[in-house]
Amino acid sequence: MSALATHSAEDAPLVDPQLFARIAGDLRDRGYSVSPGALPLTLAGGLLDHLHTMSAARFTAAGVGRENDHTLNSFVRTDAICWITGESSVGRAWLAWAEALREFLNRELLLGLFSFESHFAHYRPGDFYRKHVDAFRGEANRVLSVVAYLNPGWQGDNGGELRLFTGTDDDAALLVQPLHGTVVVFLSEEFPHEVLPANRDRYSIAGWFRVNGSTAARVDPPR
Ligand code: OGA
Ligand code: MN
Repeated sequence: MSALATHSAEDAPLVDPQLFARIAGDLRDRGYSVSPGALPLTLAGGLLDHLHTMSAARFTAAGVGRENDHTLNSFVRTDAICWITGESSVGRAWLAWAEALREFLNRELLLGLFSFESHFAHYRPGDFYRKHVDAFRGEANRVLSVVAYLNPGWQGDNGGELRLFTGTDDDAALLVQPLHGTVVVFLSEEFPHEVLPANRDRYSIAGWFRVNGSTAARVDPPR
C-alpha cells in the first residue's frame, strides 16, 4: 500500500508547493519558518487519532544526547516520545510529507538533506523541555529541525509555547503556540529553543533532516 493511501481523491493534496516555497524563502532569509495550518488537516487529524489509539506503554521517557551519550535527564526534559517508523499508514503519510519537503528544500536551497528521523512527543501538564539546541556545530548531523503540532482547540492560556531564541535578546524570543497543524522549521545549529509547561496534554512531532555524516571509517547511525 502506498504511503499516500490514507488520502482519498477528495482530500486536499498532500503537498502544497506555495507553502513549501514560503518555508524555503523564510529559511533562506532568516533561518526559521513558522506556518500555522501547514499540515494538511486529514494528515493532522489522522496522526492525532493514531496517537490516541497508541498505548502509553509505547511512549518512553525522552533522553538527551545521542547513542552512548544518551542519558535520561528530567532536569532538562520531562516529555515522553515514540519514534515514527512507518508501521502505520498515517505514520507513512507523515514520512511522505516530510520526504516531499526534503526534496523541495534540497532543490531550492541545495541543502543536501539526506535522511529524516522523527518522533511523537507527549508533554503531560507541567512537562517541559528546557532551552537547548538540536545539533552541535561541527558534528554535521542534524541540519534542519521540524516541529508539527497536534492540539485541536488549544487556547492562549494553555501555555506550552515553543520559545525560539532568534536573536541575542532573550526577551524578544519568538513564542509559538502549539496550535493544531502549525509547522515550525529551523536550522538545528542556529536556534536554541525551549518548550514551556502547559496546563493540558500537549502533542507534537519533532523531526530532523540530516546530512550523511558517514565516512569510510565511521558509519553514521540513523539516530
Ligand atoms: C525537541 C523540541 C519542540 C516542541 O523535541 O527537540 O524542541 O515544541 N520540541 O515540541
Ligand atoms: Mn529541540
